[in-house]
Amino acid sequence: MFDLGLVNGKAFVCGKVADANIYVSKGKIAKVSGAREKAEKTIDCSGLLILPGAIDSHVHFREPGMEKKEDWRTGSRAAAAGGICTVIDMPNTKPPTTTVKLLEEKRKIAEKKSIVNFGLNFGASSENAAEMRKAKGIAGFKVYMGTTTGDLKIEGDTDILQAFRIAKAKGVPAAVHAEDEGLIRHYAALLKGRGDPLAYCDSRPVSVAIKGLERAIAQASIAKNHLHVCHVSSIEEVRLIAEAKKAGLKVTCEACPHHLFMGRKDVEKLGNFVKMNPPLRGDRERHELLRALETGLIDIAASDHAPHLREEKMKGVWEAASGVPGVETMLPLLLNEVARGNMSLARLVEAVCEKPAAIFGFRKKGKIAKGFDADFTVVDLGKEWVIRDEEMHSKCGWTPYHGWKIRGKVEKTIVKGKLVFSS
Ligand code: NCD
Ligand code: ZN
Ligand code: ZN
Ligand code: ZN
Repeated sequence: MFDLGLVNGKAFVCGKVADANIYVSKGKIAKVSGAREKAEKTIDCSGLLILPGAIDSHVHFREPGMEKKEDWRTGSRAAAAGGICTVIDMPNTKPPTTTVKLLEEKRKIAEKKSIVNFGLNFGASSENAAEMRKAKGIAGFKVYMGTTTGDLKIEGDTDILQAFRIAKAKGVPAAVHAEDEGLIRHYAALLKGRGDPLAYCDSRPVSVAIKGLERAIAQASIAKNHLHVCHVSSIEEVRLIAEAKKAGLKVTCEACPHHLFMGRKDVEKLGNFVKMNPPLRGDRERHELLRALETGLIDIAASDHAPHLREEKMKGVWEAASGVPGVETMLPLLLNEVARGNMSLARLVEAVCEKPAAIFGFRKKGKIAKGFDADFTVVDLGKEWVIRDEEMHSKCGWTPYHGWKIRGKVEKTIVKGKLVFSS
């Protein structure tokens, strides 16, 4: 007898949608079949579509140290409500995750509180090479080349090279925030007299990201490591990455919903609530990025869920916190693209399940197949609904997409055979 059966639904199996009854034993997929079997518990999925559990490889759950914004309980609940079965948390907590001791402390917190699976990124600094070498059980290293939330940063090329070499030796990706610190300072000094929210966008133009990316690629071509470029915000970055791939480097990249679905016009409306690093761009840039995700030129989608309190946003343009929440809205926004025929379901599954699993080493995730982890995202592609601040689970209590009407809703989220969210 199986522990759980997902019955009467359709599922994305072997590259296509088919009627399927899926059975789970001990947290693993035990059988995928057309026929009904016996199970302790069944979940009726009539009218619904079962996808492999979605992965969000870029979240900031803020614990330890910034529990006012988010903690592992609220962050993981928001993930579950957004159909995300696995998250990778970033090291810019307080204190930053830059020692083995701090890594294991964070792991303990997450094990206790998280209702979704998690991986942890280890922070690279100019001083912690020995700790980096000792770190075990990590999804990857994170390299911040430019100033962002927290004070983790590596500025010099040789320090970046050292971090990349360690990543290579340990066989994990080095995820980079590729904005060039020198150029950031240069532009900020020029623009410091302005007080409008667009001043921040202008202080981090595309050239800041390009310069950072070129430096990262140069070091990765020496270290021969796997470079994962976080939050690409321009088609120019995507082109550079495509060239590097062609030259034989192992480079992957992610795009975030805010860069795909919002632009400078939203800065005019929402002000510093949509201040983030890298900043929002123009409409042309945004459309090209979205198309690059749809065609697979951009490898994966990730939310960069970066919750901040309203009061931290209601400050001057230079003082307001950078980042927007997004773990709960990423998949619905992408489902909306699928529902409207802009993106194929196969490509969505690749971008949020298969490829993130491959990039970050979750060998038993990303697919509905026997022996894989029993993580499922169950959706209704036809359902229309409105995203609302009040309904979000993140502790920050707001979303930049408040009022957006979309089609495609997460109905149930199942993690290791347990129902962790039901609408
Ligand atoms: C992130 C945060 O708040 O932690 N902020 C952001 O603007 N993206 C940090 C980051 O990912 O750069
Ligand atoms: Zn970043
Ligand atoms: Zn366009
Ligand atoms: Zn981030």
